[in-house]
Amino acid sequence: MANDYEEILSKYRSANRMDLIPILQEIQEQNGYISEKAIRDLGKMLDISTTGIYSIASFYDGLHFNPHGKKHIRVCNGTSCFINRQVNIMQVIEEELMVKNGETSADGKYSLELVDCMGACHSGPLLAVNNEYHSVRSEKDLKRIIEMIRSDE
Ligand code: FES
Repeated sequence: MANDYEEILSKYRSANRMDLIPILQEIQEQNGYISEKAIRDLGKMLDISTTGIYSIASFYDGLHFNPHGKKHIRVCNGTSCFINRQVNIMQVIEEELMVKNGETSADGKYSLELVDCMGACHSGPLLAVNNEYHSVRSEKDLKRIIEMIRSDE
């Protein structure tokens, strides 16, 4: 079976280094993340070392190199959400769900990510579970959301 990204790479056979980020974004859009093998194959194709690709990619938010958990939790770290925060959302989630920022839990259930403004500042402080947004205005809100996250495991 072909790897999930091979079709994308074949489309970009005559690509150059300038195409790196669009290709990475397309691979991620299709697969949800960018595998190490995809990075190696892309590096060979564009003549860029894997270290070089990771280094360039680190400047772009939203590129992921690990598969997300079944529940992918994004916590907004934009200015508005940050200054209105009543509770340390990241710390509570890390402790309650045993997952660290930028990682996926060992059982694959959860992944956690601190992100820039999610574009709904008026509803903040915000977090999203997969693509569903939730306001976290109090500790009680956060507790309810964590229960909801756990409820349909
Ligand atoms: S700062 Fe959080 S949604 Fe804009």
